[in-house]
Amino acid sequence: MKRVLANDGIDNLGKQLLEAAGFFVETHKAAEGHLAETINKHEFDVLLVRSATKVTAALMDACPGLKLIGRAGVGLDNIDVHHAEAKGIAVINTPAASSQSVAELVFAHLFSGVRFTGEANPRMRSEGSTNFNELKKQYSAGSELQGKTMGIIGFGRIGQAVARMALGLGMNVVASDPFIKEVTLKLHILQTGQDIPVKIATSSLEDVLRKSDFVSLHVPGKVDGKAVIGKAEIKLMKAGAALVNASRGGVIDEDELLLALDSGKLSFVGLDVFENEPTPRTDILHHPRVTLTPHIGASTKEAQERIGKEMAEAILAFFKRH
Ligand SMILES: NC(=O)c1ccc[n+]([C@@H]2O[C@H](COP(=O)([O-])OP(=O)(O)OC[C@H]3O[C@@H](n4cnc5c(N)ncnc54)[C@H](O)[C@@H]3O)[C@@H](O)[C@H]2O)c1
Repeated sequence: MKRVLANDGIDNLGKQLLEAAGFFVETHKAAEGHLAETINKHEFDVLLVRSATKVTAALMDACPGLKLIGRAGVGLDNIDVHHAEAKGIAVINTPAASSQSVAELVFAHLFSGVRFTGEANPRMRSEGSTNFNELKKQYSAGSELQGKTMGIIGFGRIGQAVARMALGLGMNVVASDPFIKEVTLKLHILQTGQDIPVKIATSSLEDVLRKSDFVSLHVPGKVDGKAVIGKAEIKLMKAGAALVNASRGGVIDEDELLLALDSGKLSFVGLDVFENEPTPRTDILHHPRVTLTPHIGASTKEAQERIGKEMAEAILAFFKRH
């Protein structure tokens, strides 16, 4: 019987699929500092992680029985993939399962930013019954997304999902991606079953920053250890533009971000990811024009179910081959 340790948990559907195929699945997290010991003692063949568990070279060296590492999600930055390759341990992930959920969260931040719901919510709770008309005045200068330009940096799976939603809302879309020249997106109309093709050619980062009212980042991470959006890039943006980052912390220079918010250059920023997770800096957390979520882009029922199912199917396929 193959044994799977889902150290950061696995959706029930994935667990059931594995158990139905005769696998043993443990979903209790190993005690802090005792992961290698747990894997060896209980002879786990597979280690499944999300972003919390770090799979280091030392861990792999300490667990000779480990055959497969699964990352429930997109990024592999918490797994030493080169070391796994060198040791012949396979690494799999579920890259497409959460794209729709992350893209929808981007729009949660955008809608919140243009209608001030992040700021208005706590104030309505504390002042809504005593200061209603003043609050109404303060939050009356909202704007629509329709007719505006959505700039997308990183035009892969999530970037393209964001583009489809922006097009559906009546926005213009511009995108930059050094590895993609042109994409034909299919806008699926559920109601009628139609697929409407829309061709989008990418342009330079500078072009996207200059043209966009809203910019959303969907790159794999920092580039050569540097933020993709820093002082020079913010300077290129329109006055009053907004930024959303649901990719990876550190992709935006957080010092420059705060300066741009305070100077009014940026009207608002939506953040799901932070440079210093899980302890983001408090000046960002307390800024009134930053909307915040705690890295929950992929955290929907639908995405987790898809991730669990895809992961289970990939594990079953792996053991059919080996
Ligand atoms: N917030 C969350 O919970 C959450 C969930 C899932 C994924 N993510 C993150 O979202 C990001 C994108 O995921 P994806 O599935 O779309 O990945 P993807 O690989 O499909 O797309 C990334 C794209 O970025 C492009 N790219 C690389 N360097 C670039 C640069 N310097 N400028 C512009 N484009 C560049 C690549 O060519 C690629 O097309 C990743 O960082 C991933 O870790 C976050």
